[in-house]
Amino acid sequence: MEKVYGVVLAGGIGSRMGNAEKPKQFLELGDKPVIIHTIEKFVVHPGFEKVLVLAPQAWVSYTRDIVRKMIPLHEKIVVLAGGSTRNETIMNAIRYIEEQGNLDDETIIVTHDSVRPFVTHRILDENIEAAKQYGACDTVIPATDTIVESLDNTRITDIPNRKFMYQGQTPQSFRAKRLKEIYGALTEEEKAVLTDACKILVLKGEHVHLVQGEEFNIKITYPYDLVVAKTLLGLEE
Ligand code: CTP
Repeated sequence: MEKVYGVVLAGGIGSRMGNAEKPKQFLELGDKPVIIHTIEKFVVHPGFEKVLVLAPQAWVSYTRDIVRKMIPLHEKIVVLAGGSTRNETIMNAIRYIEEQGNLDDETIIVTHDSVRPFVTHRILDENIEAAKQYGACDTVIPATDTIVESLDNTRITDIPNRKFMYQGQTPQSFRAKRLKEIYGALTEEEKAVLTDACKILVLKGEHVHLVQGEEFNIKITYPYDLVVAKTLLGLEE
């Protein structure tokens, strides 16, 4: 039986959030921090062997504390240090699985932004299924706005047919061993450019399946997004 791990990516510092007193994943959304909402979605799903949470090095013990205090069923949760980039954070998760002796061809990771607290049970289900069947998947919604391309930031170079355009969300799920092998073969220059884990596989000609996301599966990036998130929870601003 393949082992499936939840991987909650919280290794970033949230610079676009402005001068918050802590990284955005730790800001309060209603009665608990954003990251706790997100972890709970994984913990209540029966499909995960363990839920790995990767925080910035300086926030690891803080994260362990709030997980212990706020999540009753925390036995499955392991808090680890993230890396210098989002992909390096994913590699730290894979390294932990390997150290535990659990990394084989069937091992699956469901990687998710800690700052997307509205992921659903269905999205997690479909990610696990698609990763088992196809080896990799990305969660997307159809693009609503027309996408305009400009390679020089000045004039339009292309307007792709919207029918074929999607907006990427997370989770992104993979056979962990394959992702590690392909990522490990990249040069430092390629690593600097290929910041999206799915793109790495697409460029290698691997099948990356589409899973349907949700309009409300938003990422908290700017202060405005936190206002939207509170509204989605039915909270007053
Ligand atoms: N992330 C991570 N490790 C990193 C960088 C980012 O795990 N080295 C995580 C973030 O914590 C976040 C998710 O990846 O949950 C999506 O990234 P983004 O929204 O860009 O987060 P930040 O990098 O924190 O934000 P910013 O770009 O504004 O600094």
